[in-house]
Formats: sequence, structure tokens, C-alpha cells
Amino acid sequence: MKIAVIHGPNLRLLGRREPEVYGTDTLDDINAALSRVGAELGAELEFFQSNHEGEILDYLDDTSTRVDGYLINPGALTHTSVALRDALVGVDRPFVELHLSNTASREPFRRHSYLSDVAAGVVFGFGPDSYLLGLRGLVGALDSSR
Ligand code: DQA
Repeated sequence: MKIAVIHGPNLRLLGRREPEVYGTDTLDDINAALSRVGAELGAELEFFQSNHEGEILDYLDDTSTRVDGYLINPGALTHTSVALRDALVGVDRPFVELHLSNTASREPFRRHSYLSDVAAGVVFGFGPDSYLLGLRGLVGALDSSR
């Protein structure tokens, strides 16, 4: 099983970006933890980060025939991007949306997601564990659809 992990805008700043909100783990730390859990679950992972919406759309198009699903932290695009929603629906692969922070307890503009209603599942509020829980959920969903 192959899963692509997508980190949206500003997530390369993890570790130094608002540590009181996002914690102190870096993106490399999170990717390493995901690789460990992926190996445990028999999932092969690839990783992509971009600050550019169009690059993420291109990446989805480029990878959809070789991956089974996506784990995505869309960052701020969650709350703004109809284009990302359309791309995720268009590539027709299950995806899990996740967030480090509890977006429901923050500013009102973070409470709306353009993606949640078309996601296989959503995890938020557990810091880096949101990624690991999301990966387990996605692998489980893919396994049961086989
Ligand atoms: C985030 C939450 C978003 O609202 C924010 O724009 C981010 C990070 C999170 O992981 O908590 O960039 O997706």
C-alpha cells in the first residue's frame, strides 16, 4: 500500500512556528515518526511539502495513479481553497485531513474546512499524534476497502 503525505503552507516552519500552538517537533521529526508507523502497518510513504497551492494540485495529479491514498495537513488552504477540494475529489483517492491544533477552539475562520465533508476522516488537536492517528485510520480504511 502506498500513501502520500502532503504538508501544506508554512508547515516547513514546524519546530519554530508558534510552538505554543504547534509544539516543538520539526517536519523531519514528524516524517520520521510516520515512516516508523508506516513500516509497522505495511504502508510505503512518500512526503511532499509546498507553500504553493498550485504545486500541491500538480502533485495530486502527478501521484494519483501510483498512490492508494493521501494523508494531508492542508494548513491554511483548509479554510480557503475550493481548488484543493476539487483536486482531492478529482483524483478519486481516499484522503484523511489532519491538523496539529484543535482548529475548533481557535479563531472562527479556522472552524470551516472546505475538505472535511469529502474526507475519509478528519483528525485534529493531538499535535504530531494527529498525523499518526490519521495514518492508522487511512490504512484501516484502505485495508477494509480491499
Ligand atoms: C493547521 C491549522 C490551520 O488553521 C493553520 O493555518 C495551519 C496549521 C494545523 O495543523 O493545526 O497552518 O493546519
